[in-house]
Amino acid sequence: MTAEIEFENVSLHINGARLLDGITLSIPRGQKVALIGPSGAGKTTMLRLISGIAWPTIGKVHVADQETGTLCGNALRRFRRQVGFLHQQDNLVPQLRVAHNVLMGKLGDWSWWQSLWSLFRPRQVDVALAALERVELGNRLWALPDELSGGEQQRVALARLLVQEPRVVLADEPVSALDVRLGRAVVQQLFQLVAQERTLVVSLHSLSLLDEGFDRILAMRDGRIVHDGPPSSLSKKLLQEVYGAELAQIDVSPFHLADDEG
Ligand SMILES: Nc1ncnc2c1ncn2[C@@H]1O[C@H](COP(=O)(O)OP(=O)(O)OP(=O)(O)O)[C@@H](O)[C@H]1O
Ligand SMILES: [Mg+2]
Repeated sequence: MTAEIEFENVSLHINGARLLDGITLSIPRGQKVALIGPSGAGKTTMLRLISGIAWPTIGKVHVADQETGTLCGNALRRFRRQVGFLHQQDNLVPQLRVAHNVLMGKLGDWSWWQSLWSLFRPRQVDVALAALERVELGNRLWALPDELSGGEQQRVALARLLVQEPRVVLADEPVSALDVRLGRAVVQQLFQLVAQERTLVVSLHSLSLLDEGFDRILAMRDGRIVHDGPPSSLSKKLLQEVYGAELAQIDVSPFHLADDEG
């Protein structure tokens, strides 16, 4: 398999703070990766680098056959279309109705005048409706984001991603604003969206969702990857090393942990 995401000795420093520290990593196309680790470990920062929102201070990041730090203009626009990002605090456009927010997933495919005209007379409302029905919000097509709960807003953002159909899908704690049932549904929908051929990287606080079919777990701490292996490689001892005192607040069940050795 060819690498879809590649980090070559990547460090990121901001105002003297070291957010990431010497990360080398290769994620093959189609792999489903969970990023775990305590608050402040660098999970969101990793996703920002993959999405090309941030660039490394040292080293190189390659995603979808591009080196992110070198992109601008049309090349950057094309790249953004290929990489979908479900943010931790999602940014719907508050002035736009749900239908328009969902159809923003199409902006990369439309010409500027089609995009502009769509604000008055939405193109492909049927596409928006189908995506909203998949996240159980088919009846809120014309609502404003303010009229929705935090969890519902997050599901609208998921619908936008379904419409965009990107090649690499990133999600930053897609379940934190949701109850467990909807959280599991969002993760399952992410898996459906990516199917076999797309690559998925998800940061998770709740380890209870690790049994949803991830191929690989990357555990981070202090800007470094401290463990890299399949879900079956996670043991209680390892999680203790990764999370320290924070482990007490982490929901692990019903995920099955490997027996500790030695
Ligand atoms: N713009 C910034 N300038 C300086 N430090 C930053 C900046 N953004 C993030 N940090 C710091 O970098 C570290 C990593 O942050 P990051 O958001 O990647 O953590 P995280 O693993 O996503 O945490 P959480 O689980 O709380 O979301 C934190 O210590 C954070 O305070
Ligand atoms: Mg984060």
